[in-house]
Amino acid sequence: MSREKSVHRRTVLRAAAGTGVLLTLSPGLLLTGCDGGVKAVESETLGLDSDEYDVELNLHAMPDSVPILPGAPSEVWRYRAELLKGPQNTVTENPDSYLGPTIRLRHGQTVKIHIHNELPEDTTVHWHGLHVPSDVDGQPRLPIRPGETMTVGFEVLDRAGLFWYHSHAHGKQGGRVGFQSYAGLAGLLIVEDEEEAGLKLPSGDNELLLVLQDRTFAGNNELVYMGGGMGSMMDRMHGFIGDRVLANGAPPTTRKVATRPYRIRVLNGSNARIYKLAWSDGRPVTVIGADGGLLQEPEDRPYAVLAPAQRLDIWVDLSEFQPGDALELISDRFRAGMMGGMGMMGSNALPLGSRFPLARLEVAESVEASEPLPAQLGVQRQKIPVNRNTRIRSFELSPVMMRGFAINGRRFDGTNVADDEKVRLGDTEIWEFHNSTPMPHPMHIHGLQFNVVGRRGGNSDSLQQGLVDSGWHDTVLVMPRETVQVAMKFERFDGLYIYHCHNMEHEDAGMMRYFQVQG
Ligand code: C2O
Ligand code: CU
Repeated sequence: MSREKSVHRRTVLRAAAGTGVLLTLSPGLLLTGCDGGVKAVESETLGLDSDEYDVELNLHAMPDSVPILPGAPSEVWRYRAELLKGPQNTVTENPDSYLGPTIRLRHGQTVKIHIHNELPEDTTVHWHGLHVPSDVDGQPRLPIRPGETMTVGFEVLDRAGLFWYHSHAHGKQGGRVGFQSYAGLAGLLIVEDEEEAGLKLPSGDNELLLVLQDRTFAGNNELVYMGGGMGSMMDRMHGFIGDRVLANGAPPTTRKVATRPYRIRVLNGSNARIYKLAWSDGRPVTVIGADGGLLQEPEDRPYAVLAPAQRLDIWVDLSEFQPGDALELISDRFRAGMMGGMGMMGSNALPLGSRFPLARLEVAESVEASEPLPAQLGVQRQKIPVNRNTRIRSFELSPVMMRGFAINGRRFDGTNVADDEKVRLGDTEIWEFHNSTPMPHPMHIHGLQFNVVGRRGGNSDSLQQGLVDSGWHDTVLVMPRETVQVAMKFERFDGLYIYHCHNMEHEDAGMMRYFQVQG
């Protein structure tokens, strides 16, 4: 791309960011970078007071250019990290992808991260799923300005699991989560612990990490976020659905494997797309973990549903295969309320609920490996006890004419918290989400992991048997007309947290609220 052109595009992006009209710009809006030369300003350290940290790293949010499709590289925004202190395997770069480095932490470690904003607009970094103090949670109320550095510190209190980190910027003009995450600001964060290590699950080369995202590209491989006109309205209403799927930031690939068991850990890092994970030969999907780590025991499902922001841990045994055999992980066909109609609206080559491949496992080698799957997995963390006296707090998800969706009739209103959004530190509560809209909403609560108590109503027939509700979650899919109850305990940290729909376009349009944990 010529110099002149890139300067021009830069101007377009700035203007869009400044006025908040990004969502309505015509097709072909391009993601662009900005010049270097940003000035680092050290801000106060949030979180732990101690000077002693087990792990310390720099995390840069920056424009970059990476090859995604054959041909010209694409301009992206992405994270890069430098490990300053800690075990060598803490940071694994994904150099050929826009995805941020995979950060591997151990339960009990103290971690200090210097976040450098080298983008032309405000950003924040949210540690999705982690139980961290409110001030280091990466919320919109603590933006990092362009050129500034914010240092956050926390102790890893969570059990082993697959978490992730992503932008959570939301300014006066509205949310930027959808745009910034789409531009590439997301990465995996793995927590390890003793209990999980003791199970000797497939690891190293036998653990496959899979980040699923959908994207739309213009002619010269430029990422396109929102279409124009009618398409853009639909995008805002339904959430952005790209016309091709990327696995780990690239078109799905073939992976050479051996005749042995594998652990496949999947994140749905898409803005709005739901996946229906299944095996091409129809074998059951063996689920061993969800958002907040391992289930108590493995569960076989005909397919497994993965909504935006959710994670699934899948175990598969290829030991009966012969070299030359192949197995595909696919997303299978489904209907999801009103969103299913999108295909009929015409424009998208890959409507929500289409069938497409995610990864191909090709058996290249025969090995002797019998590693049976343990019958008991994560048993140390007890489910949150609830009974008929447990307080139930209800949240109605409802449409707002032309403006997206509301929670109990309210939309995002900065840090303003209503009386019924205040909870007490130490309390156990059941939150009940009632979906009175024709669309599914993946509801996410910051700062904790919850148990799904139950669901009723709803018309999720083509996804029903794949909803994994056991174990620990931070995001739960609430189908149209459905009521879902989740149990949680507000432990350790008081202060402001947020809860929202993780369909990023819904969230950005205001389907998000703060709640307050009162000490
Ligand atoms: Cu993954 Cu509030 O976000
Ligand atoms: Cu939603």
